[in-house]
Amino acid sequence: MGKRPIRIRSLPLQPPKRYLAAVDDDVCFALHRKCVRINLEESLDPMEVCGVDSEGKEFNSAKEMWREEIGEEGDETKKTQWYRDGVSYWEGVEASVDGVLGGYGHVNDADIIGSEVFLKILLQERLLNGETNQHLVALDCGSGVGRITKNLLIRYFNEVDLVEPVAQFLDAARKNLASTASETHKATNFFCVPLQGCLKPGGFFVVKENLAKQGFVLDKEDRSITRSDPYFKQLFRRCGLHLYQTKDQKGLPKELFAVKMYALTVDTPPKVHITRSKTSSNRPQIIK
Ligand SMILES: C[S@@+](CC[C@H](N)C(=O)[O-])C[C@H]1O[C@@H](n2cnc3c(N)ncnc32)[C@H](O)[C@@H]1O
Repeated sequence: MGKRPIRIRSLPLQPPKRYLAAVDDDVCFALHRKCVRINLEESLDPMEVCGVDSEGKEFNSAKEMWREEIGEEGDETKKTQWYRDGVSYWEGVEASVDGVLGGYGHVNDADIIGSEVFLKILLQERLLNGETNQHLVALDCGSGVGRITKNLLIRYFNEVDLVEPVAQFLDAARKNLASTASETHKATNFFCVPLQGCLKPGGFFVVKENLAKQGFVLDKEDRSITRSDPYFKQLFRRCGLHLYQTKDQKGLPKELFAVKMYALTVDTPPKVHITRSKTSSNRPQIIK
């Protein structure tokens, strides 16, 4: 969850198959801008709709926005600079819970509770498979000061690794997590690199993100993009990720963006065989 965009890339870390869960969970803060244009055609590609940036500039499509930000061909130097600018923004932010939550430190509890409910479902269905003594490892992506590892992940995973490009955040995370380590549950590795992720078969990404009502919103200050739910789904499809579960975050202040959790797998989720009674399966139904 976050003001910044999700980043689905591959981690240049060894060994790449360590992670059963990669969690990208940063919290949102308010943007009081709105996309004035309305997409009348529901059937449009959700990634090809209009959006705005934090200075009120409108774009007819994400393509148009990217063309302006990083050039027609997605110039590598401009791309690198784009991410650098994002990291520079965070380098100027206080290394505290309030800092990483954009002044909304008080949403921490609601955020953690919402994530915990979702995580429990995933653990039960995807990771534990009825076994209780599995050694579970998670990767906290864009971990900031270790807020989510400390308040949530460390309680469920035997090991948590943290990836965070801002050194002062990672230093704070090390300190914040020092007292939480036990024999069986600990933060193991602290990687000061930008995020790229690789999962072992059967693993999943959890993305918790702000949602734009429609299209996208580009924030010029921290180089983050807030996307709509259909946009995310299309993006996941294009990345070859399968949507396993979703859940809405409840209980956040009204002025914030809506927040949603997505569990994504790299392998095709097992088909669910629903056995319907003969009577109901033969009954004429509305095709949705
Ligand atoms: C909104 S903060 C959230 C921090 C933490 N996940 C939380 O919820 O407490 C966003 C975090 O993403 C990090 N970040 C920015 N660009 C990144 C990148 N390219 N790769 C990984 N993390 C990045 C920032 O440094 C910052 O710590």
